[in-house]
Amino acid sequence: MIFATNNAHKLEEVRAILGEGFSLTTLREAGITEDIPENEPTIEGNALAKARYVWNKTGADCFADDTGLEVDALGGAPGVHSARYATDGHDFAANRTKLLHELEGVEERTARFRTVVALIIDGEEHTFEGTVEGIITHEERGEGGFGYDALFQPDGYTQTFAELPAEVKNDISHRGRAMRLLAEWLHNNR
Ligand code: IMP
Repeated sequence: MIFATNNAHKLEEVRAILGEGFSLTTLREAGITEDIPENEPTIEGNALAKARYVWNKTGADCFADDTGLEVDALGGAPGVHSARYATDGHDFAANRTKLLHELEGVEERTARFRTVVALIIDGEEHTFEGTVEGIITHEERGEGGFGYDALFQPDGYTQTFAELPAEVKNDISHRGRAMRLLAEWLHNNR
């Protein structure tokens, strides 16, 4: 199946989560080199838009994911704008710096990652959602992962996602949960 991403970190995570039984093709391998528009107002909308784009271009079974970090003290921001929070590009470091700045002096730091996976198989659409609750730390900690990982400490742990081993992150993460629902659906329906 085509997994609508060129993000090497995500691909590695999803390959580890889905395991041996799945053979994934990236966008580049499927011949899609342009940026797919992600202009929908919701995470679910963006996941579906990406999957529909790939389906329309290739006619191949495919899935896409979209993720947002929802910070309660910021009214759910950056949310659907998580990738382009600080700049127009995908500047992970600038996004983390902006988030820390926005939360300066804020004690209420609860947040969650939300992922929606959109699957198109035989032309039919299905969506799967996964969330993980946690807090935004006061400083960056850890070298692993990507995006906001160094600032997100999941509930029940004293380390951030960037400090935790990849297997632990994948076990409890937003993407891990959504991808396992996808895998379960495929297992039961294919
Ligand atoms: P995307 O739309 O799934 O690429 O996610 C949007 C943004 O959310 C990314 O640019 C990252 O900054 C952030 N993000 C997505 N997944 C994760 C994750 O697992 N950890 C930390 N940040 C993430």
